[in-house]
Amino acid sequence: MEIKVIQADDDQKKPKPADESQLGFGSIFTDHMFLMEYEAGRGWFDARIEPYRELSIDPAAMALHYGQEIFEGLKAYRGQDDSIYLFRARDNIIRMNHSAARLCMPEVDVDFVMDAMKKLILLDKDWIPRTEGTSLYVRPTMLATEPHLGVRPANNYLFFIILSSVGAYYKEGLNPVKIWVEDKYVRAAIGGTGEAKTAGNYAASLLAAEEAKEKGFTQVLWLDAAERKYVEEVGTMNMFFVINDEVITAPLTGSILPGITRDSVIQILKGWGWKVSERSLTIDEVIGAAKEGSLKEAFGTGTAAVISPVGQITYKGEDHVVAGGKMGELSQKLYDEIVGLQYAEREDTRGWVERIG
Ligand code: COI
Repeated sequence: MEIKVIQADDDQKKPKPADESQLGFGSIFTDHMFLMEYEAGRGWFDARIEPYRELSIDPAAMALHYGQEIFEGLKAYRGQDDSIYLFRARDNIIRMNHSAARLCMPEVDVDFVMDAMKKLILLDKDWIPRTEGTSLYVRPTMLATEPHLGVRPANNYLFFIILSSVGAYYKEGLNPVKIWVEDKYVRAAIGGTGEAKTAGNYAASLLAAEEAKEKGFTQVLWLDAAERKYVEEVGTMNMFFVINDEVITAPLTGSILPGITRDSVIQILKGWGWKVSERSLTIDEVIGAAKEGSLKEAFGTGTAAVISPVGQITYKGEDHVVAGGKMGELSQKLYDEIVGLQYAEREDTRGWVERIG
């Protein structure tokens, strides 16, 4: 399928952010977007890059009623040589197809979407910021557009990619975040949609996150839905705990997102000779380790957040300071390695980094 390109006129182009240190996350969008449509029996068609614009959508579109919506998040980085790099982008599109299968939505052709994404990023490459810690966040999205109110998978879909110039996800930047262990609400149960990147998982997390925010916490640490006993993820990040010399993260049992940064961290740590365990970890083990001083570090991983150190965990009203409330040595080393790879400043021995222009 050919990709038609309609470039924005000069008067349609928006001013670029003047101060890159004030970018924050997710509110500045570039001049163009990619779109294509799907119809059952016909497949994907009408692929095009157009000036960024509002969508026109039927109020009966099935995504608005029954939640058939999936998305991805990845980043394009500007290296010191001004080249543009992607990090494991293909893995994001493959993961999107897994989300699509779970939500009864059509899969996309991975090579075709990679090609479309690169064309779009290169067209808007002047939006990729230069300051350290900034990047261009890429948001591929798919939603059901068929106007119909019966509950069943839709026959029509829209796939689009938008781009956003971003800085740090959390206002704390690399300063440790405070985490509230949630033992009332749950995010996802095994057998549900927790491992798919779909809007409903995020909607389900909002009330707990708002209540935690009111109490002064940055994020909620979810426990398993059945017993409220095992640590799962943070909603915008997968979680890692360093207890003595073991690095532990929750296994992929279906209720947590299979994070690409999570997988990168596991592979890097194993390469450095660390013992990494993907195993069930009870909140009691975490709190016990914090009390006896064997919880050396805790950190979250995600595309948006990269590596986010945890400085405090609060469970059942008790605060537990982690790593003296500072960024731990391993968290810092991992951050430096991942960011070094993403900006092509460190040697990539795994084929994760692709220069696209
Ligand atoms: C990401 O890390 O890319 C995410 O999608 C998390 C969040 C911004 C929804």
